[in-house]
Amino acid sequence: MSDGADTLAHHLAARILLDGPLSVAAFMGEALGHPRFGYYMRQDPFGVSGDFTTAPEISQMFGELVGLWCVDSWARLGGPAPFHLVELGPGRGTLMQDALRAAALVPAFRDAAQVHLVETSPTLRARQRATLGDTPVTWHNRLEDVPDGPTLLIANEFFDALPIRQIQKTNHGWFERLIDVDPESPPDAPRFRFVLEAFGSSGSRLVPDSLRDAPEGSVVEVSPASQSVARLIGQRIATAPGTAIIIDYGYPQGPAVGDTLQALRKHAFAPVLDSPGEADLTAHVDFASIAAAAREGGADAFGPVDQGAWLTSLGIGPRADALKRTATRKQAADIDSALNRLIAPDQMGTLFKVLALTSPGRGAPAGFEAL
Ligand SMILES: C[S@@+](CC[C@H](N)C(=O)[O-])C[C@H]1O[C@@H](n2cnc3c(N)ncnc32)[C@H](O)[C@@H]1O
Repeated sequence: MSDGADTLAHHLAARILLDGPLSVAAFMGEALGHPRFGYYMRQDPFGVSGDFTTAPEISQMFGELVGLWCVDSWARLGGPAPFHLVELGPGRGTLMQDALRAAALVPAFRDAAQVHLVETSPTLRARQRATLGDTPVTWHNRLEDVPDGPTLLIANEFFDALPIRQIQKTNHGWFERLIDVDPESPPDAPRFRFVLEAFGSSGSRLVPDSLRDAPEGSVVEVSPASQSVARLIGQRIATAPGTAIIIDYGYPQGPAVGDTLQALRKHAFAPVLDSPGEADLTAHVDFASIAAAAREGGADAFGPVDQGAWLTSLGIGPRADALKRTATRKQAADIDSALNRLIAPDQMGTLFKVLALTSPGRGAPAGFEAL
């Protein structure tokens, strides 16, 4: 490796040389969060000119309905004042901005809300500051750092960015997938490849009993990082009144076999090990294990329900009609197209799911009553 090389690939190759192959979780954590080269640390990746678009960036209707859902959930908790309005991974701050604007319909909610954003990226913190103008906001690196107390928590497309580990079934049992430097690659331009751990002990322990008999070649994914955040949310809202909404794409029914690690660059899939730090890396969210971890923490869990059904039950159709009443023909077409993207089954409507967590014994929040 040349001394002048200074990219995340060089940094990872040097680390592998020192410590041996990395877990998928370590690779993903570095690719997204390395303080200097991490994907989210360096840039604003959202929108048409970026790598991907999220629901709040598609339409203001998304954040508005999440905001009104928070107002309703707050009222069901007895309207605690003050309370912490927490968002995990707020991106450009668009969801929070739209949610606060809609929630201003209930001044007591706005007056009681203390906004906390959990965001590790300095670049995105600056973007959130610009979006939220003079709204008082406290930033944190971790949920643990948000003070205790009554909480309304929002996490949209946060859990899919948390690191996963992958374990693969071979004819000798389950072995963790690791990432090594490809020995064919030149030292000054390292490339990476998947290998299996040598002894099959640490990975094997992570495989859920329900999947142990999966056929040879199967890959199982687990996200201890996601489970730990979910347990923390559960503990938080078990000890003070609270409700959380988690929206993401993933499996509704518990862990399944399948390799879902994916890289997105300029709105297209890219090879997952190429150019670490320059593409978004995500994996399907295992809602059942998030719900289980939150229940272990002491919370009740509801759902997941499909995003399309949830937004429809909250009134996204009438909201779109109201916006269209003052829109130009072009704007009305854009509103219809955004509505379709958010709720249609072949768009985000069924792939994306919504999970609610509440303080124990509070009953189902809005949009989850039928469960
Ligand atoms: C896919 S973006 C979602 C953004 C936003 N919620 C939206 O819907 O537009 C993921 C966000 O989580 C942040 N993030 C990723 N990993 C994080 C971590 N471990 N701790 C805190 N924030 C993290 C990223 O910087 C980014 O703001």
